Amino acid sequence: MSAAAGHLRVEGLRIATRRHGQPLELVRGIDLDIRRGQVTALVGASGSGKSLTCLALQGLMPPGVECLDGRVLLDGREVAPATLRGRQVATVMQAPRSAFNPVLTMAAHARETLAARGITGSDAERRILAALAETGLAEPERVLRLHAFQMSGGMLQRMMLALALMSEAPFLLADEPTTDLDLVLQAQVLALIERLAVSRDLGVLLVTHDMGVVARLADHVAVMDHGRIVETGTAADIFASPRAAPTRALVAAHLALYPEEEVAP
Ligand SMILES: Nc1ncnc2c1ncn2[C@@H]1O[C@H](COP(=O)(O)OP(=O)(O)O)[C@@H](O)[C@H]1O
Ligand SMILES: [Mg+2]
Repeated sequence: MSAAAGHLRVEGLRIATRRHGQPLELVRGIDLDIRRGQVTALVGASGSGKSLTCLALQGLMPPGVECLDGRVLLDGREVAPATLRGRQVATVMQAPRSAFNPVLTMAAHARETLAARGITGSDAERRILAALAETGLAEPERVLRLHAFQMSGGMLQRMMLALALMSEAPFLLADEPTTDLDLVLQAQVLALIERLAVSRDLGVLLVTHDMGVVARLADHVAVMDHGRIVETGTAADIFASPRAAPTRALVAAHLALYPEEEVAP
């Protein structure tokens, strides 16, 4: 394999749909950087364009939505984003169930992920068990026989992370990975992402609307509002001196909930 990339960037991303016959821009020309060894949080109100941005980074667009413009760069070189999936970029999504093929077992998903990298046989089996252990999936032999519908949301998120590890992709896109989980599982999955990001030196894009998660995990923050990035900075800067109105609103809402918390992470 070639040397792992260290910098994933999207530049001038514009995404649009048509509403009532008129073009409507949903993402209005954004730039975003994800660097290895750092967690970049993409925050903003619901509908601000975070998930579409994540999808564009994977070369995916939902039906009825079109990517008008934008380049994805890997270490400064333009690449077709669809070629990054599973190789350079792994993902964890809000609704993990939909990321799994309902007729395949977890073992089949895992083997497929490794086969894409030319790893099969006993080497594959060894790596599968190691990844499941690393993500805290107990009883791996049993888990590997399950289908997605037989697993809880928390187990599926762990399995997504295990597949991300098997892919050895240097970048992880996590789109609201804990939204559908209960509080205990949220904390566990976040701790897991944090640990894996450090141990594997991943570049993580963490989409969230939870500033508590930002305070805990993020190095850098980009704030999105109505399809634009209205503020970027270190997490410490964003909490200490938010400038844009949407950032101030997010920080104020967080501090209203957790007034006793330290403002700087
Ligand atoms: N398939 C789609 N067709 C039309 N509009 C869409 C589609 N998917 C998302 N949108 C619109 O694009 C905007 C941004 O969506 P999204 O990226 O999902 O927001 P976020 O993840 O920040 O909550 C929203 O206004 C949403 O309604
Ligand atoms: Mg979203």
